[in-house]
Amino acid sequence: MEVIKTIDLYKSFQNATLKQDVLRGINITVSQGEFAGIIGPSGSGKTTLLYCLSSLEDITSGQVLVLGKDIAQYTVRDIEEFRKTTIGFVFQFYNLIPNLTVYENILLARVIADKDESGIDEILEKVHLSEFKDYYPNQLSGGMQQRVAIARALVNKPSLIFADEPTGNLDQNNGKEIMNLLSELNQKDNITILLVTHNEDYLSYCNRIFKLIDGKIV
Ligand SMILES: Nc1ncnc2c1ncn2[C@@H]1O[C@H](COP(=O)(O)OP(=O)(O)OP(=O)(O)O)[C@@H](O)[C@H]1O
Ligand SMILES: [Mg+2]
Repeated sequence: MEVIKTIDLYKSFQNATLKQDVLRGINITVSQGEFAGIIGPSGSGKTTLLYCLSSLEDITSGQVLVLGKDIAQYTVRDIEEFRKTTIGFVFQFYNLIPNLTVYENILLARVIADKDESGIDEILEKVHLSEFKDYYPNQLSGGMQQRVAIARALVNKPSLIFADEPTGNLDQNNGKEIMNLLSELNQKDNITILLVTHNEDYLSYCNRIFKLIDGKIV
C-alpha cells in the first residue's frame, strides 16, 4: 500500500522582496513498511519536503496523498488526528521541553492526543531509558535526548515516522545506535520511515533513496 504519494508538489516561500521556489515538482511514492532516505545538499529543500509531507507546512501546488487520501481534503479535525496518532516526527534539534522530565515529555504527547499514561514505560524500555525517566533533558547526553524524542514520536503508535537528520548532532556511536533503533522499529514493528540524512554511511539502512537537488528529485 502507498503510504505517501506526491504529484507535482511545488512549495515556494514568498517574503517582501523575494520569492523562493524551494520544491519544484516532486513526484515520489513511499510504500507501507519502507525505510526511505532523503539526501541532498544543505538548502536543497529536505526539511521543507518532510514538513509538506507531514502537513506541518502547506504546499503551494500539486498534491500530497497520505494513505491514499489527498491531504487537501482532510478536515481540520482529520489533520489534528493525523498529527496526533498517524505520524511521529523526530526533529533535528530534539525539541524537548526543558522543564519537563523524560517521562513528562513523553506523557505530554499522550495528553495532547487525549490518551492516558499507558505505554510510556514500555516505550522507555524500548529506547533504553527506563532508569532516566525522572531526569531533565539537560542532564542527558545528546544521544539520550534524541532517544527521548524518538520515544515521544513513538508513544502514540504511529504507522509512519518522519526523522529529520536525527543523527545530525551525534557522534558516530550514538548515531549508529539511533539508526539501529529506527531500523528495528521498521523491521519488527513495520513502521514506515522517512529519514533525512547527511551521512552516506546510513544509506545502507534504507531500501529506497531520494536525492534532492535544487528542489527536484534526481
Ligand atoms: N519558513 C521559511 N520561510 C522562508 N524560506 C524558507 C522557510 N523554510 C525554508 N526556507 C528556505 O527554503 C530553502 C530550503 O530549506 P530547507 O530547510 O528545506 O533545506 P534543507 O535541505 O533541509 O537544508 P539543511 O540540510 O541545511 O537542513 C532554504 O533556502 C530556506 O531558506
Ligand atoms: Mg534541513
